[in-house]
Amino acid sequence: MFDINSTTNLSLIVAIAQNNAIGRDNDLLWHISDDLKRFKALTSGHTVIMGRNTWNSLPRRPLPKRRNIVLTHDTVFCDEGAEVAHSISQVIDMVRDEDEAFIIGGAAIYRQFLPFVSRMYVTWVWQDFHADVFFPVIDLSVFNKINESERYLDDESGLTYSYCEYERRPVDNKSVFKAKM
Ligand SMILES: NC(=O)c1ccc[n+]([C@@H]2O[C@H](COP(=O)([O-])OP(=O)(O)OC[C@H]3O[C@@H](n4cnc5c(N)ncnc54)[C@H](OP(=O)(O)O)[C@@H]3O)[C@@H](O)[C@H]2O)c1
Repeated sequence: MFDINSTTNLSLIVAIAQNNAIGRDNDLLWHISDDLKRFKALTSGHTVIMGRNTWNSLPRRPLPKRRNIVLTHDTVFCDEGAEVAHSISQVIDMVRDEDEAFIIGGAAIYRQFLPFVSRMYVTWVWQDFHADVFFPVIDLSVFNKINESERYLDDESGLTYSYCEYERRPVDNKSVFKAKM
């Protein structure tokens, strides 16, 4: 069905605190208006893929001008504006013909899609937060940091943040072959 070594059309977008916190009580930990604008600019016109908790947490749903796919094990779940999926492989199939589809959280969904994403758009928020959900530590032997912005200051919250982009490193088939010998 899917070759884990191939490049996919799946990207992930997330805002992460410096202690890897991403949420608490099914809500976000901060409000940075510039980051929300960037999220909208990058994802508009594309598909966004999320877990049911994140769907429930949206102040306005579905996210406008985007195809919204919601993952749940609940086979009778339906909600206006949501296309429902029940497994990772089903989602991969649903977006097969698209140029770029975005994994938008939350923690359970990020964790399960991490092996399949080719690109990550990360907003780093340079403070520790008390949280109940966290993003996995980014393995720099798997992902290459290809872009890093300067640090910006959000006047309203007083938080500093930067934008980073990561791309999956190509698999080195020679070293895989050697490791198997
Ligand atoms: N900082 C950020 O950028 C960011 C972005 C998004 C979300 N968040 C935060 O993340 C938190 C939510 O994360 P979360 O881990 O609690 O929830 P989540 O990942 O949004 O959703 C989890 C739910 O998705 C469904 N699900 C998960 N894996 C599935 C699979 N393989 N097949 C079918 N359904 C599956 C299940 O729903 P059912 O129980 O219905 O089966 C599961 O309970 C919130 O605090 C939110 O604010 C942060």
